[in-house]
Amino acid sequence: MVDLSEYGGRVAVVTGAASGMGLCLSRKICAAGGSAVMCDVNGEALNGAAAEINAKGAGHAYPCVSDVRRFADAEKAAALALEKMGRIDLLVTCAGGYEPRMCNSVMPFYEQPIEVIDWGLDVNLKGAVYFARACMPAMVKAGKGVICCLGSVTGFEGDGNGAMYGTAKSGLFNFVKGLAQAGAKHGVRAFCVTPGPVMTRPSMAGMKTLLGHAAETEELVDFILFLSSDACRCITGSNHVMDCGRLSMQPQ
Ligand SMILES: NC(=O)c1ccc[n+]([C@@H]2O[C@H](COP(=O)([O-])OP(=O)(O)OC[C@H]3O[C@@H](n4cnc5c(N)ncnc54)[C@H](O)[C@@H]3O)[C@@H](O)[C@H]2O)c1
Repeated sequence: MVDLSEYGGRVAVVTGAASGMGLCLSRKICAAGGSAVMCDVNGEALNGAAAEINAKGAGHAYPCVSDVRRFADAEKAAALALEKMGRIDLLVTCAGGYEPRMCNSVMPFYEQPIEVIDWGLDVNLKGAVYFARACMPAMVKAGKGVICCLGSVTGFEGDGNGAMYGTAKSGLFNFVKGLAQAGAKHGVRAFCVTPGPVMTRPSMAGMKTLLGHAAETEELVDFILFLSSDACRCITGSNHVMDCGRLSMQPQ
């Protein structure tokens, strides 16, 4: 269990915050006394999640219905954080998904409708780029900040049906290096956290790993919070895999 005391009073912008890791992360930051601008395209789930967090007291959650494919929505989220709290300490880009599943379109890349291909690239890659572009100026101005992008082992493995998912995730491995280079002299760190299977959905238990199990959602989120904390002030530009040994398995 990671020490969350330093998150009291911290301000986070979290995408994909209505479910899974983004929701767990928002809950933990607010429970520690921090604030979270929770961004998600699913307004109903988002508003319900934020209300549930706020009913508990401690820190505050600000729901911000947003589509990460729209830069104007990223700017809206950053503006909300600055209006309510005056700064952004942490950005975590969790919004994403495997396009064959998210668009209900299971077929090889060469048959995928162009809308599915666009979804895979735009949500998984451009969404993180847009939010970093919108939130980073406030961090640079303050002389500190942390940006964490969620990768995936598919960014190493590739996928014949969800080719954009893997392409976008490997793009993020490089994107955080660019962010790290741009941010270093302004005290801004950036890195990728790259999961194997995580139990945000029961079906993830079926994905093969060396250890024979998937990670719990909270384990991934605690890893993100540790890497984002002051204890990790030497970490930037890097990619941190937590995959239960998935990438170390012998090829079948
Ligand atoms: N769960 C896993 O096993 C796993 C493994 C590797 C990588 N990841 C990555 O980790 C991240 C979080 O995964 P999760 O399982 O917690 O996800 P999740 O599916 O539980 O949540 C994703 C959230 O993103 C939101 N979203 C989708 N499209 C959006 C858009 N256009 N704009 C704003 N929000 C949008 C969804 O509404 C949803 O609330 C994702 O980027 C995923 O690719 C997950």
